Amino acid sequence: MVSFRIHLLTLLFTLLCAASGILAQQQAQQAPASIYTDTKDGYKYHGCYNETTALQDTSGARALYNGKNEVKPGEMTVQRCQTFCNDGQFRYAGLEFSKECWCAQQLSGISAKLDDEECDMPCDGDKSQVCGGALKLTVYIAGAAAPSLTAGAALWVAGLAAGVVALGLI
Ligand SMILES: *[C@@H]1O[C@H](CO)[C@@H](O)[C@H](O)[C@H]1NC(C)=O
Repeated sequence: MVSFRIHLLTLLFTLLCAASGILAQQQAQQAPASIYTDTKDGYKYHGCYNETTALQDTSGARALYNGKNEVKPGEMTVQRCQTFCNDGQFRYAGLEFSKECWCAQQLSGISAKLDDEECDMPCDGDKSQVCGGALKLTVYIAGAAAPSLTAGAALWVAGLAAGVVALGLI
């Protein structure tokens, strides 16, 4: 009798685990990857761009060329790529094929801007973010000032101005 109860409990527990596993899986599938738009690393979203390697007469040139790149299967995220490109102050950071990061000072003029939806592959290292597509790049451009820094600097300048005014009044 006791062992029967234990078996029953074990069975119930197993069923519960299976059910919650299925639920979790469904939730993971329901959340599609979206474009990462946080600007804290100094880059802002620029658009989805076509890779140029397969275009005619380009000799396989890349849309983001003369820079550097890294390929990180299982690890690539947008932040990782931005940090990688920022170290070297590259103007552009682009993600491609879930796991590639391309940094460059120029974006090729023959690379066509595509609809955002054309970049449809999730990042290898964070499935909630978009990391380009097959021969398509999710491109970020430098120049987004870190908000906290800007606010801090503005306060500092305001404080300085107030100080000057106060001194002038004395
Ligand atoms: C994007 O590039 C592919 C080749 O990789 C080309 O066939 C296609 O026409 C390009 N799309 C646009 C909109 O330029």
